[in-house]
Amino acid sequence: MRSVEAYIRDLPKAELHLHIEGTLEPELAFRLARKHRITLPFASVAEVRAAYDFSDLQSFLDIYYALADVLRDEDDFYHLALSYLQRAHEQGVVHTEIFFDPQTHTARGIAFGTVVEGLNLALTEAQRRFGMTHRLIACFLRHLSAAEASRTLDEVLEYREVITAVGLDSSELGHPPSKFAAIFDRARAQGLLTVAHAGEEGPPSYIHEALDLLAVRRIDHGVRCEEDAGLVRRLVREQIALTVCPLSNVKLRVFDRIEHHNLKRLLEAGLRVTVNSDDPAYFGGYLLENYLAVERALGLTRAQLASLARNSIEGSFLDADAKRRWVALIDARADDSLSHPPR
Ligand code: ADE
Ligand code: ZN
Repeated sequence: MRSVEAYIRDLPKAELHLHIEGTLEPELAFRLARKHRITLPFASVAEVRAAYDFSDLQSFLDIYYALADVLRDEDDFYHLALSYLQRAHEQGVVHTEIFFDPQTHTARGIAFGTVVEGLNLALTEAQRRFGMTHRLIACFLRHLSAAEASRTLDEVLEYREVITAVGLDSSELGHPPSKFAAIFDRARAQGLLTVAHAGEEGPPSYIHEALDLLAVRRIDHGVRCEEDAGLVRRLVREQIALTVCPLSNVKLRVFDRIEHHNLKRLLEAGLRVTVNSDDPAYFGGYLLENYLAVERALGLTRAQLASLARNSIEGSFLDADAKRRWVALIDARADDSLSHPPR
């Protein structure tokens, strides 16, 4: 009988909530700092890791934005993305939808094109080498103004052929989706799909706003939906995917411990729950480690693990044909396991 780890690895999975800047491992940060002659506010890799003791979302974002300063040229973005893609491939990720934060880089004088071209080179290479498909999602930083998001959208539109969707991330509290309604209207009018972080630290009303005002196709995080029974019924009815990030939620203290995470309850309530790694270099694990953490702490069955993988494909921006093929493969792998149950 295969171990649960091998079972999860062999399930074809999509990753739908992954900030590429959040895959910057401290070792790479130091290498790039040396390359560009930048002095980091940390003396060693161990010191950086020791600083990853977050009290909330903002305490994480402060370090995350500071370390992103080492990303300067196209090759940096290429190496960053390729390292993630290699790891994701080894963990059975067959399709990935990657967020990037253009404003984190353009504010430092890095050209939008430098970022996109470096990322796209790595994504194209992963498609060729591993057969891994992808979508690229440009996120607006919600702590900045709507006018700044609008200028960023102008740049996104110049790379329309490689960017599928726009998203909304960064400090949630005090920055409701409504602040960006006009920008998202314009993005959709140009054929871009939309997603948004909502209900991570923010209230359920932000999830309603993201659905009603931004017409999002899925909700990033969304775990606070549980506080609003009507909203839960709506998410079930409309089969809106929630891109849940278990290890992130514990590191950023959305839940005090993994055993108290609501993922299993949401899944059993019929929501289209998916598992994702958010910022794996900061939160202690990539996709496989996130699946394993909830499997162990919440006692998920193999059938539930297969449902999570199926949801990730169904909730993705893949076309209907590709979804059908991956779901058939997941069903076959899941059946195979059920006919050889664990002892
Ligand atoms: N940017 C990177 N990770 C994020 C998260 N978990 N929430 C909001 N913004 C983010
Ligand atoms: Zn996120």
